[in-house]
Amino acid sequence: MTEAAVPPATSQGEGTPPLVLLHAFPLDGRMWAPQVEALSDGYQVVVPDFRGFGAARDQVVEVAEMELLADDLARLLDARALGQVVLCGLSMGGYVAFAFARRHPDRLRGLVLAATKATADDEQAVAARLEMADRVLAQGVAFLPEAMLPTLLGASTRRLRPGLVRKVTKLLLEQEPAAVAAAQRGMARRPDVTAELAAITVPTLVLCGTEDERFGPEVGRALAAGIPNATFVQIPEAGHLLNLEQPAQVNEALLDFVAPLWI
Ligand code: MLT
Repeated sequence: MTEAAVPPATSQGEGTPPLVLLHAFPLDGRMWAPQVEALSDGYQVVVPDFRGFGAARDQVVEVAEMELLADDLARLLDARALGQVVLCGLSMGGYVAFAFARRHPDRLRGLVLAATKATADDEQAVAARLEMADRVLAQGVAFLPEAMLPTLLGASTRRLRPGLVRKVTKLLLEQEPAAVAAAQRGMARRPDVTAELAAITVPTLVLCGTEDERFGPEVGRALAAGIPNATFVQIPEAGHLLNLEQPAQVNEALLDFVAPLWI
């Protein structure tokens, strides 16, 4: 049995309900630096690391299922006496947010789903994840930038922002192979949550980069259409890691969304 754990998390600023930012794969909470800087000015912003990633490297498991990560988050909220939160997840962070919405709906005040999708993987995608899990355990993380950057960052970013490309490369190379493998195995098992979307009743913001080569605008639009109280916002000239690629636009969208929810 997997041991329960409270994930390490940074917390900056004050304000209720806190905004909790869930990172993408295979990164860690540091990817949210531009949002922490902009939004913690007056509000509390909490950023955990998933099992094995970033500061959670000693919490690695064999299979990091989305449900486990969602329950870890609930343990973190309990440990810090945080009641309801506005939860924002990007890509894998979004998958965890879906599991959290299903398992801990009373803890949600609002939801931001960025560059993520409700559908599960097909057979081919599952096979590719399991292959990457084996490869990263055998070879380490050195191949990740070449394998992933072309779809993690949009064409404009790759062309115009070499500094950001270097920053994301560094983040990829700093992750533990075992964490990358566990997350891939966990994502491979995640369910299709399309039928659960109608039960998400909190205000929801769906964000999508217009240059996202993983989950393009049609994926974001379909996701927003399935959630009763959702707003869909596209971020121009941004790929999958839209919060890093267009921080000013994403911060504005987040502030517009969360301001009415804050007390
Ligand atoms: C992510 O950015 O978290 C990944 O694209 C998620 C995935 O591999 O499905």
